[in-house]
Amino acid sequence: MICLSCTETSIDANLQIINKNREFIDLVEIRVDFLNSSEYDGLHTIPDAAGLPCILTFRKPADGGINTSISNEERVAVMLKALEGGWRYIDIEDDADTDAELQLMKAAEAAGTRIILSFHDFTGVPANLAERMIENSKGDRYIPKAAVMPESTADLLRIFDAHRQLSDMRSGSQGFSCTNGPLLSDYILVGMGSVGVPSRIMASAWGGMLTFCSAGSTEAAPGHISPAELVNVYNYNALSGESIVLGIIGNPVMHSRSPNIHNAAIKSNSLDAVYLPFETDQPELLLSHSAELGLRGLSVTIPHKQRVKGLADSIDNSVQAIGACNTLVCNSSTNEWRGYNTDWIGFLKPLEGMELENRKALVIGAGGAARAVVYALVKQGMDVLIVNRSSEKAISLAADFGCRGGGFELLDDTDDCFPLVVQTTSLGMEPNIEDNPVPGFDFSGVETAYDIIYTPEKTAFLASAESAGCRIINGFPMLKAQAVEQFRLFTGCVME
Ligand code: ATR
Repeated sequence: MICLSCTETSIDANLQIINKNREFIDLVEIRVDFLNSSEYDGLHTIPDAAGLPCILTFRKPADGGINTSISNEERVAVMLKALEGGWRYIDIEDDADTDAELQLMKAAEAAGTRIILSFHDFTGVPANLAERMIENSKGDRYIPKAAVMPESTADLLRIFDAHRQLSDMRSGSQGFSCTNGPLLSDYILVGMGSVGVPSRIMASAWGGMLTFCSAGSTEAAPGHISPAELVNVYNYNALSGESIVLGIIGNPVMHSRSPNIHNAAIKSNSLDAVYLPFETDQPELLLSHSAELGLRGLSVTIPHKQRVKGLADSIDNSVQAIGACNTLVCNSSTNEWRGYNTDWIGFLKPLEGMELENRKALVIGAGGAARAVVYALVKQGMDVLIVNRSSEKAISLAADFGCRGGGFELLDDTDDCFPLVVQTTSLGMEPNIEDNPVPGFDFSGVETAYDIIYTPEKTAFLASAESAGCRIINGFPMLKAQAVEQFRLFTGCVME
């Protein structure tokens, strides 16, 4: 289930957001600590007005609540009064022990409001996560909830493990069956922050009761995803423990468009799979836990493209030659990972139909991206000249691929005409869109100018080529084509 955390300052504004997102959500949580205190008297009207099961939450400042001016007694009194509205659930922190709090819990039970007994850890993932939640279930009397802050992939895996322990306990496996009824039926467990995002998307698939999300002006907790994105991009409600997991590893990774691209292809192919963003500094941990996680394929981005080639069980020739791996595929029978590079394939895609063999190409730049480009062009039989700010890097790259290279001054000494000119440096990328590594380049108009940057759509380099009458290509078709190839390697299916 998807629960919308409502964090507006008025009841009306919350109801508007609920109505806007109704098609995506199953229940709502009203965060009373975000409301203006003048709204407290109207709290009991919310469950009817919302028309969905509601959670009443008045978070204490110590647990992330934002109203710091109210005393604990007043806070409890507001919740007690609100109970008459017929709330399905109330969230109470597991350290609640004052008389007023215990009275509130009794009153909630008497009103038929189920208690979610929660705890929050904004500093990490406690060692006894599952145990504390089992303890908080009090023999299935309460729904235990934990929101914790994973700082690393090791922490994320501990959240996954806690899910497994809690799910096993619920199903009575692992010797946890209880003759007096279940020890635990429902529980809520999510990891906050960008490292925790996969645990929010997989919260129900891994066994939890729900995930929280935000849609208003304020994020209720770090890492919240919008309800529309959970449904439309990640297909949240269709995911289960059987779903194949794909993803992208990198750091940072949350800005990546890859989840949108791959999840759309998963949907159009009707696959039981999901593609997740994994912000990680420990790619090796994800690779070694592939079987448990159902992990079958990973896109690799900065800063892991070089490092993962040493982590794979085997690598494709292109990875060896380019020295970078942007795709990892796990064999489901052996759990072995094989590394591929799809960047060079993606790079060639927009050049299909152009005669390349035995023709001259100029490559600007000699970094990691240039290596994939030079590999691709040499493979097509082109005669490549590499120019770079640091001439020694161009010379060294050229030596690796049997072509010519040097500093920018080589351009002054050559009368060659290059049918293809490729810009591979980061110069001209947003926000520095005025930059151009070869501002004085004398395009004749017959060249195809190709910039692997895709933001902005037209770099200063491409603009100067276009004004000379050249055909221009930006980096977007390459990005798309390398993803198409990745998706084929991951799933055997076509990305439209
Ligand atoms: P990537 O993996 O994106 O290719 P990289 O390996 O760091 O990144 O390579 C960056 C490329 O951009 C290099 O060719 C670099 O030139 P140097 O080798 O001389 O550093 C080039 N580059 C970066 N900043 C530049 C600048 N201000 N002027 C010219 N070239 C630049």
